[in-house]
Amino acid sequence: MRSRVAAGVAALLLVTGAFAGSSHAALTVPTDIQQPGTQPGEVAPLERPDQCSNCHADSNKGVELANEWGGSMMAHASRDPIFWATMAIAEQDFDGSGDLCLRCHTTAAWMEERSTPTDGSALTSADADGVECHFCHAMTNPDGSEHPGVMNGDFVASDGGNPPKGYLGSGIAALLATDDKAGPYAYPSDANPPHGALGSSFHRSVDYCGTCHDVSNPAVGDLAHNNGTLDGAPPVVASGAPGGPVAGKAAFNNFPHSYGVVERTFSEYKSGALVETLVSDYGTLPADLKAGAILEARNAALLAGQNGDYADGTDRYFSCQTCHMQPANVKGCKHNSAPVRPDMPTHDLTGGSYWMPAAIAYLDSVGKLRLGGGMTSDQLGQLAAGGVRAEHQLEIAASLSDSASLALGPCRIALAIDPLFLASLQGGPLFQNYAGQVPASSPFRVRLRVPAIPALTGICLFHAAAFFNRAGITCCTNTAGTMVVR
Ligand code: HEC
Ligand code: HEC
Ligand code: HEC
Ligand code: HEC
Ligand code: HEC
Repeated sequence: MRSRVAAGVAALLLVTGAFAGSSHAALTVPTDIQQPGTQPGEVAPLERPDQCSNCHADSNKGVELANEWGGSMMAHASRDPIFWATMAIAEQDFDGSGDLCLRCHTTAAWMEERSTPTDGSALTSADADGVECHFCHAMTNPDGSEHPGVMNGDFVASDGGNPPKGYLGSGIAALLATDDKAGPYAYPSDANPPHGALGSSFHRSVDYCGTCHDVSNPAVGDLAHNNGTLDGAPPVVASGAPGGPVAGKAAFNNFPHSYGVVERTFSEYKSGALVETLVSDYGTLPADLKAGAILEARNAALLAGQNGDYADGTDRYFSCQTCHMQPANVKGCKHNSAPVRPDMPTHDLTGGSYWMPAAIAYLDSVGKLRLGGGMTSDQLGQLAAGGVRAEHQLEIAASLSDSASLALGPCRIALAIDPLFLASLQGGPLFQNYAGQVPASSPFRVRLRVPAIPALTGICLFHAAAFFNRAGITCCTNTAGTMVVR
């Protein structure tokens, strides 16, 4: 069992600012941690977000893409202090595992070979922007059906079938070899982009977000006695040989969702019915689902002028993007020549992390961010705005949940009603790991984040890691077992 003391110590060190890096740091990545997809060093260095924001942001002209992204947790995935605390533990548990974490939490650093040593000590301050624009706009479908991504030798990220099915999850990405920027519309040259614009339907797919929103542990998948599968799951093909060649490893022979289960936002959502519902069929949804996040996403989609479909007439489903990147009628670029687009996806990308922005800003103000300190006033403003948007997300999610059709709801709500998960709540594992040992006087009171579910009075649903004890905010007034969360 994971040592709670270690977790608590990591959290304490973090809070006191004494975090000095871990003594665990592999210089090469063990094959147990490696996965297919484009490998470090295989594509040219990625352009950084501040290069994109030269054109893709200017509030005076109503261009907000980069500002919005800057308020999302993805833009701070490698500033996030809980990330660093947990990564230190991961490295202690399995030397070299930090490479896995860095692959998703700091995309350019991983691609540019700075994920070794695996404790992140080679990262530079420019790597603090987490999940970056260029990485996301270089991603292709790993099944190769649209654009070929760079994948060599054993590292082809699909099952080799006919047609091949891509390995989606665990950060396994296949990037373009060119510096074209891929997006759904392949905007024509009327606004003179300085870069190629490549049409990509993958960017509208839930599979796209699934690349990182199913987290599997390849070491557990290969080496653990049950390959880290759920009860009753089909067997996993794995060599089970520590340090064995990649070709035999679980990550090279199975779909990520099938082994080393850590987190399943994407698979859970994909197994529900909402993902197959067209926005234009909103009227057919049960009455109690016509509210909250679903209603808001549908109203935004109508802006594109096609009864919910995309402005180019393509079907729009209730995808991750439909809710988290709602369309707006705005310019995508600040150039005077750039037209207003009827269906420019906002880069809101907030979930429920409403307190972490304030925590990051606080750590920055006291000079204790592990990476990316010295944030500009623009960045701090973006962060604060993202925190407010996340609070709104939680508010609209709750209205969804007062429903007998709960399993249709977005994201974690499906996970939350899983009885096994509720059972684990009784022991409150994360609560004890990351909260129990943070002193009450610290600025961080890490707690469960729990949406109120009126229909299930008496049960508090576990959401993600935690929430910030900020005056005036109460996320849940229900009780679960002996725990009262307020
Ligand atoms: C997590 C991945 C991700 C990140 C990070 C990201 N984008 Fe996007 N972006 C997308 C997706 C997905 C779409 C298409 C969404 C849709 O159509 O619903 C998109 C759409 C766009 C579009 C419109 C393209 C079109 O054809 O509609 C532009 C322009 C754009 N992004 C620029 C940026 C810039 C600039 C940044 C950084 C400041 C950025 N993106 C960061 C995923 C990302
Ligand atoms: C496949 C991509 C991926 C990998 C690999 C990955 N993460 Fe994450 N991580 C995510 C995503 C996506 C989230 C957001 C989850 C959510 O909110 O539902 C996340 C969230 C987290 C959070 C919660 C942060 C917060 O502020 O709430 C922590 C902590 C974390 N990851 C630590 C790690 C560690 C440690 C590793 C390596 C052992 C790791 N992650 C590997 C994608 C990944
Ligand atoms: C010098 C200005 C400029 C810079 C710098 C720039 N872009 Fe663009 N970009 C544009 C213009 C102009 C368009 C076309 C917008 C339109 O037609 O509405 C565009 C379009 C796009 C699109 C849509 C492409 C498609 O196929 O749909 C994406 C995605 C994009 N840019 C991403 C990026 C990213 C990521 C960066 C940084 C790595 C970046 N851009 C840097 C000006 C720029
Ligand atoms: C119907 C709208 C809707 C759809 C579709 C949707 N989401 Fe969400 N998502 C939300 C709302 C609202 C929240 C905030 C409330 C919450 O956390 O449940 C959220 C929260 C999140 C979070 C933060 C959860 C956490 O525990 O921190 C992540 C990550 C996320 N969504 C990713 C996704 C991905 C990936 C998909 C597609 C597989 C998706 N969402 C589909 C509305 C949606
Ligand atoms: C390259 C990997 C990657 C891709 C691709 C990706 N994400 Fe994320 N996402 C992350 C990581 C890592 C985090 C966690 C950041 C943290 O909290 O430290 C995250 C966090 C989020 C959150 C955050 C929520 C919160 O407030 O807790 C939302 C919402 C989200 N992602 C939505 C999406 C959507 C929608 C897509 C597809 C358009 C997508 N992501 C694609 C890696 C990715």
